[in-house]
Amino acid sequence: MTSLTLCCSRRAVAANAYVSINRRCIQTLQRRQQQQQQQQQQQQQQHCRRYSAAAAPKINANLGVLFGLSRMMSSTCQKLVKVEESRRFMIDCFKAVNVPEEHAKAQADLLVAADHRGHFSHGMNRLEMYINDLAINSTDGAAVPVVLKETPATAWVDGCNGLGAVVGNFCMDLAIKKAKNVGVGWVCAKGSNHYGMAGWYALRAMESGLVGMSMTNTSPLMAPTNAKEAALGTNPLSLGANGCGQDHFLLDMATTAVAVGKIEIQMRKDAALPDGWAQDPEGKVTNDAKLAFETGCLCPLGGTELTSGYKGYGLGAMVDILTGVMSGARYATHVRKWTHTGANSAADLGQVFIAVDPNSFAPQFEERMSDFNSILRSTKPTNPEKPVLLAGDKEQNNIKAVDQAGGIQYLENQLKTCAALAERLKVQPLRFI
Ligand SMILES: NC(=O)c1ccc[n+]([C@@H]2O[C@H](COP(=O)([O-])OP(=O)(O)OC[C@H]3O[C@@H](n4cnc5c(N)ncnc54)[C@H](O)[C@@H]3O)[C@@H](O)[C@H]2O)c1
Repeated sequence: MTSLTLCCSRRAVAANAYVSINRRCIQTLQRRQQQQQQQQQQQQQQHCRRYSAAAAPKINANLGVLFGLSRMMSSTCQKLVKVEESRRFMIDCFKAVNVPEEHAKAQADLLVAADHRGHFSHGMNRLEMYINDLAINSTDGAAVPVVLKETPATAWVDGCNGLGAVVGNFCMDLAIKKAKNVGVGWVCAKGSNHYGMAGWYALRAMESGLVGMSMTNTSPLMAPTNAKEAALGTNPLSLGANGCGQDHFLLDMATTAVAVGKIEIQMRKDAALPDGWAQDPEGKVTNDAKLAFETGCLCPLGGTELTSGYKGYGLGAMVDILTGVMSGARYATHVRKWTHTGANSAADLGQVFIAVDPNSFAPQFEERMSDFNSILRSTKPTNPEKPVLLAGDKEQNNIKAVDQAGGIQYLENQLKTCAALAERLKVQPLRFI
């Protein structure tokens, strides 16, 4: 009901035309809530039947939908970590390598949000790499970005080799300010580092009632179509737009078939890769997660040429043009390699942050967005037990499931890495519920 109430209260709908749109939106939302509840109950029942002997009932009841079967099967871990505790641990780790508290908090907020939203590849999984970079000074944890050039709608920023979240938040906040003044803010940064979930920055703009977009280039990991070596990064892009109330669209995706973190997660789970994710050293598609990780050649979104992988390749190139090339940062193979042991040179990544005030265009954008969203969500599913989703829905479901369970369930291997980090940095180890 909250979303329905907010849907009606966020902005008074004057025109009659929108009354029917809102009625349709409300009916669809109600239908959707019922469908989701039914689906959740069915999946939980199935899951409990199959795995109740092996996994804790509390986790089964709450997390069956969230983590999927492979996650549950791969992990004997029944320990949950409170979101706040996960954040505390990350902050302590950053502070242990001399990151100022404010910067440590900004970086931890970003990482814990990824775990909360179900993007484990870009949460705790990345902590060790950031710590290694900070420990060998290839990232400057205390650096504050500076504006190099500015117009009312644009800014060119030097991230000064600071932490990705610090640079990213600074740039998106600047873009938001500009969008509020002149309708659009377009900020390009050079000298940045890995900035985590691209969607984090779109969300920041959405919190201010704006449409947000962000992209970053990354270390080379994508093989151009028909190449057997990597020349572009996983180069993610995000676009977020508010509907009524809590309803929104948030596309946040790598332009490779998957983010490299997902290969690492498969490796942590000792699981095979599906077809079309990555190549072996000869340029052939491989299912071996370890070989894929060592080779470092992901397929572009779409896979091989036969399955239109060249479109993902084109999107990845587009991201690099708008980030690396346009900002004066490194691009394509000029970007350094990045490994778990850290890198011995600055990343100098390029990033772009765009905020747009939808009120600069047709009125009642949010109402039409919710109508748009509800049309897509209410298309007939091929499998009635699997409702049609919209970009951002999975993440919202993950947040709900974590909140219901009371904490995040990390893979056992991830917890081992955290324990080793705690020991190495002499910080309080993660506490479990
Ligand atoms: N900073 C970096 O260097 C970097 C690089 C790559 C990826 N990333 C981040 O990694 C995260 C994961 O990226 P990914 O490409 O693996 O994401 P993904 O494939 O899990 O999801 C991509 C998008 O598809 C949507 N989606 C998923 N299932 C859907 C369905 N059934 N119907 C409709 N929409 C659906 C999601 O909501 C999301 O917006 C993202 O946050 C991304 O920004 C960061």
